[in-house]
Amino acid sequence: MAKEFDILIFGATGFTGRLVTRYMQEQYGASNVRWAIAGRNESKLNALKTELSLGDDISCLIADSSDPEALRKAISKARVVLTTVGPYARYGSEVVAACAALGVHYCDLTGEVHWMRKMIDSHEETARQSGACIVHTCGFDSIPSDLGTYFVQKLMRETHGVPAKHVKYRASEFKGGFSGGTLDSMMAMMEQAARDPSIMMTIADPYGLNPKGSPRGLDGPDRLTPEYDNDFRSWIAPFVMASINTRVVRRSNALMGFPYGRDFRYDEATLMRDGPLGFLGAAATGLGMRGMNGLSSQATLRGLMQRFLPKPGEGPSEETIETGHYTIELIGKHPSDSDKHIRARVRGDKDPGYGSTSKMLSECAVALAQGEAVVEGGFWTPASALGDALLNRLPENAGVTFEQD
Ligand SMILES: NC(=O)c1ccc[n+]([C@@H]2O[C@H](COP(=O)([O-])OP(=O)(O)OC[C@H]3O[C@@H](n4cnc5c(N)ncnc54)[C@H](OP(=O)(O)O)[C@@H]3O)[C@@H](O)[C@H]2O)c1
Repeated sequence: MAKEFDILIFGATGFTGRLVTRYMQEQYGASNVRWAIAGRNESKLNALKTELSLGDDISCLIADSSDPEALRKAISKARVVLTTVGPYARYGSEVVAACAALGVHYCDLTGEVHWMRKMIDSHEETARQSGACIVHTCGFDSIPSDLGTYFVQKLMRETHGVPAKHVKYRASEFKGGFSGGTLDSMMAMMEQAARDPSIMMTIADPYGLNPKGSPRGLDGPDRLTPEYDNDFRSWIAPFVMASINTRVVRRSNALMGFPYGRDFRYDEATLMRDGPLGFLGAAATGLGMRGMNGLSSQATLRGLMQRFLPKPGEGPSEETIETGHYTIELIGKHPSDSDKHIRARVRGDKDPGYGSTSKMLSECAVALAQGEAVVEGGFWTPASALGDALLNRLPENAGVTFEQD
């Protein structure tokens, strides 16, 4: 059936939703892709239209995520729902359920592993039957990781005819900020995990997102302490997003039928420097992360922190977004010959979590709307659904590049 819109941007009035809307306006206007904005508050949507000078051809749809009927009515008009309504575990479940039931493709920015697990287990069969292609983690978590690994493995296969047995992701430059929505999502996850130990088990499981019954690999728990990495001749520290990204990369391997191998290993870290200063930096980063986790797991301290941190709707300044950037260094290790290791870089302009994320998410939605997914209905990862499409689109449109060193 013909749809009124290619893409529905749900949560357009939020911090990230506004950036997505601005990107869609600048990159696609209203002629190439038919898109509309949606949210729960009509006057905020109208104010956004005025602020971004969106023309009358951009429609506003009203739906609260707690109103399944209004949601279904809005979602049924679109080919793809792009949603930034989070925390997703609090506001996102009905959106996924409606997309899966109505055969509408879906992409989001969640990093809430336990919620993704729940959505996969609850709606996979429905999405398969309806043809809805559901893709979580389409922002800084986890596109540079998932697509970076896909890129390295592709190079390794094309150059040496085998997959890399181990890919290492090292965040080497990272400048940006956090929004209230992201902090709210992180705090909400800690709060739920404190109440329900099974949630903590899912979050801590290195294969927590793999398809049920698929074989596990060789990876263990996430890194918590400083280590010396001989491949990069540097000290490394824990990386803040590793507990999300690593699960997504491992799920991609399983969903694609293990092209990286059944004994494939993947890990992430922050690259420090060589020498004693590198060790001290790695130790301080690890302590800082453990401190934050400890503080946010205590209800009272969580409440106190939230009083001083950005609130939902707030985020980094325009200047921080524009001047932000990131570089990820990757090494794919050849199974038997160290001269054949592949080194690569993923670089992004603008700050990772918002400027770059809003462009990556938009490009995922456009790729889904234009039929570029290589899979049928179901729950997929960015690499398994849109690997080659994103390797073309992101450098061309979104300032994210993938290069061999
Ligand atoms: N993975 C990544 O790289 C990445 C990067 C950025 C953000 N994120 C995630 O994206 C999400 C959004 O972040 P943000 O900073 O943009 O948050 P935000 O500014 O708080 O925006 C949240 C949006 O959700 C809407 N909303 C809240 N409750 C709703 C409901 N019941 N029905 C309909 N809409 C509702 C809000 O509408 P109102 O405007 O009416 O309040 C707003 O538009 C968070 O979960 C965050 O963790 C992830």
